[in-house]
Amino acid sequence: MNNFEFYNPTRIVFGEGKIVELNRLIPKEAKVLILFGGESARKTGTLDEVEKALGHRQIGLFGGIEANPRYETLIKAVEQIKQEGYDYLLAVGGGSVIDGTKFVAAAVNFEGDSWDILTSGGAKVTSALPFGTVLTLPATGSEMNKGSVITRESTQSKRAFMHDSVYPQFSILDPVKTFTLPPRQISNGVVDAFVHVMEQYLTYPANAPVQDVFAEGLLKTLIDIGPKALATPHDYDIRASLMWTATLALNGLIGVGVPQDWSTHMLGHELTALYGLDHAQTLAIVLPSMLIEKLPQKQAKLAQYAEQVWGVHDGSDKQKALQAIELTREFFERMQVKTRLSDYNLGQDVIEPLIESLTKNGMTALGEHHDITPEISRRVYVASL
Ligand code: NZQ
Ligand code: ZN
Repeated sequence: MNNFEFYNPTRIVFGEGKIVELNRLIPKEAKVLILFGGESARKTGTLDEVEKALGHRQIGLFGGIEANPRYETLIKAVEQIKQEGYDYLLAVGGGSVIDGTKFVAAAVNFEGDSWDILTSGGAKVTSALPFGTVLTLPATGSEMNKGSVITRESTQSKRAFMHDSVYPQFSILDPVKTFTLPPRQISNGVVDAFVHVMEQYLTYPANAPVQDVFAEGLLKTLIDIGPKALATPHDYDIRASLMWTATLALNGLIGVGVPQDWSTHMLGHELTALYGLDHAQTLAIVLPSMLIEKLPQKQAKLAQYAEQVWGVHDGSDKQKALQAIELTREFFERMQVKTRLSDYNLGQDVIEPLIESLTKNGMTALGEHHDITPEISRRVYVASL
């Protein structure tokens, strides 16, 4: 196991009806800006519930944060905060609203061009406004981590940053809030959480058995509950498991002391930035091809994955690995997320723009061995056609 430091200060308040706890969780004297997405928070009544729970506090609203949140939109929230003087932020929504709020929190007191927050990967961040979240979509883990992914429309760049100051102070996870999600977002959430675990688990053996068993447990849970979450949308226990599994998939715990990959995410971000695919769709396309491309380096862990997660015990390590990759693809398809570029009407002509963009964004040495060059990324995209 590698050396590591683990820090995660986010308080999780989990369960039906927990939005009322906002009154306890946010300081009484705070002036709160509530940030949300399109219309879902209003239509589902969640926004009303939140406003009611905040009681007599001074509040303001900032709506319109889009899926794959845009820098161009978020800087308007930064302006609003500077003009109206808020000292606490509250994100009400999915990963996009939470990521957007993290950026806004870090940008308010940032000296200089706030896009540098992204180009520096967060290294230039020094402080952020305090904030909490009310999660409405289980998927990204953003509710309990320090990461944020922002898209700049003008340059079609999708970039991430991380900083300790953007851990949410608290996140309220009420599984009932997921009942209104369209099936596509449940599908996306299951696939995203699954791939988060894979990016931290599917590298090479690192003498970290407890991280492995945690990761395998999360994967097995997703394989079990994912289809059920689609089939029985109002089953509280299934939604509760999904919500907590997605949070645990990317709150840092399973990734400590082990090598991590993240190349599938980086190749996927380009697909969203250039062609507008949902984040999870991009992952379902890239992961199977990436695993096949890196099979020689990942074979030992793939064979372990085949045995522990899929119960595949027959054959050589290579045969088990290949079968597990195929089962993974079938699982994504069973979750109604297509796994080929051609399923999204994308063909050969998208490959070079994707490679150019990866290169422009400095994504030229990816993976746990830093050996996924643009040439190898090209092979992965081509294999995904
Ligand atoms: O905009 P509204 O009207 O609110 O609708 C949203 C949105 O269209 C809707 N929705 C959310 N909660 C709902 C609901 N509809 C009905 N009922 C509800 N309860 O769902 C749509 C998608 O929401 P979004 O927040 O975009 O989805 P998700 O949570 O999957 O977030 C995706 C974003 O997170 C980033 C992705 O790149 C993408 O930009 N990621 C963030 C990570 C992190 N911070 O750690 C890690 C991930 O790998 C990921 O990259
Ligand atoms: Zn993701």
